[in-house]
Amino acid sequence: MRPEGLKTRIFLDGGDAAETRRVSSLLGFLDGQTTNPSLISKNPRAKKRLDRGEKFSAEEIYEFYRHVIEEVSDLIPDGSVSVEFFADKSTTAEKMFQQGQRMFGWIPNAHVKYPVTAAGLEAAERSVRNGMRVNMTLCFSQAQAAAVHAATRGADPGQVFVSPFVGRLDDIGQNGMMVVENIIKMYRQADSHVQVLAASIRSLEHFMRSLALGSDIATVPAKILEEWSGKQKPLPEADFKYDASGLKGIPYGQFDLDQPWSSFDISHELTDKGIERFSQDWNALIS
Ligand code: E4P
Repeated sequence: MRPEGLKTRIFLDGGDAAETRRVSSLLGFLDGQTTNPSLISKNPRAKKRLDRGEKFSAEEIYEFYRHVIEEVSDLIPDGSVSVEFFADKSTTAEKMFQQGQRMFGWIPNAHVKYPVTAAGLEAAERSVRNGMRVNMTLCFSQAQAAAVHAATRGADPGQVFVSPFVGRLDDIGQNGMMVVENIIKMYRQADSHVQVLAASIRSLEHFMRSLALGSDIATVPAKILEEWSGKQKPLPEADFKYDASGLKGIPYGQFDLDQPWSSFDISHELTDKGIERFSQDWNALIS
């Protein structure tokens, strides 16, 4: 069952419905799921097919993804399921919007993932105006989160998530958890409509710190949720900290969220690299 006092919604970060079923029954609850092209490429059925030397056609891979998403959605009908389309650095806002619209129609509880790039923000702005729910992914800075707030102004609560990626910042020697902390602080001050979804969680410590910070949502790999469950699902003290020595701190910045999104510096090398990695994993599935 859900631990008493747990405010953060817990999503599974994965691409396999069998795993969703297992984790949901292990925890006794599950509030949603995030998927991405890399996770779908690791789906056991996709891997089996690739191991036989059979790749997917471009249309087949969408059908496969759709099938996985429908299964996951059926398992968590009251939750949210994030779906991410194929994009590379040349994908236009128009193309993103078209794919987003298509995938949003797959299930009743979808959030469409758009990258925090100029094209992604433009597509998200249009999606939100059209009543779609969005999850702004590959976020690595407070400035990018400020742009997400500005691009989706007027959205309903719960319509927009922003996903700061903790582990990938840690990977380059920066304290990713501090970006989550800074974004939460900035959004609270501005009473933002955007919900923070801590992503790229790599350890129980990351997860515990997300809960202590009061992140709206945390998306967590099965392995870490299993570890948490094995420890009887403890909740952290409000001042829970872990040893992040060796990681460079990320200072809080001042941003005026009333400015247009195009006024913020949204460039980040990890956003570009992330798009490249997702598109490589997606392309590896296609003949
Ligand atoms: C979820 O939405 C993200 O795509 C995921 O958490 C990324 O995790 P990774 O950095 O471990 O690939």
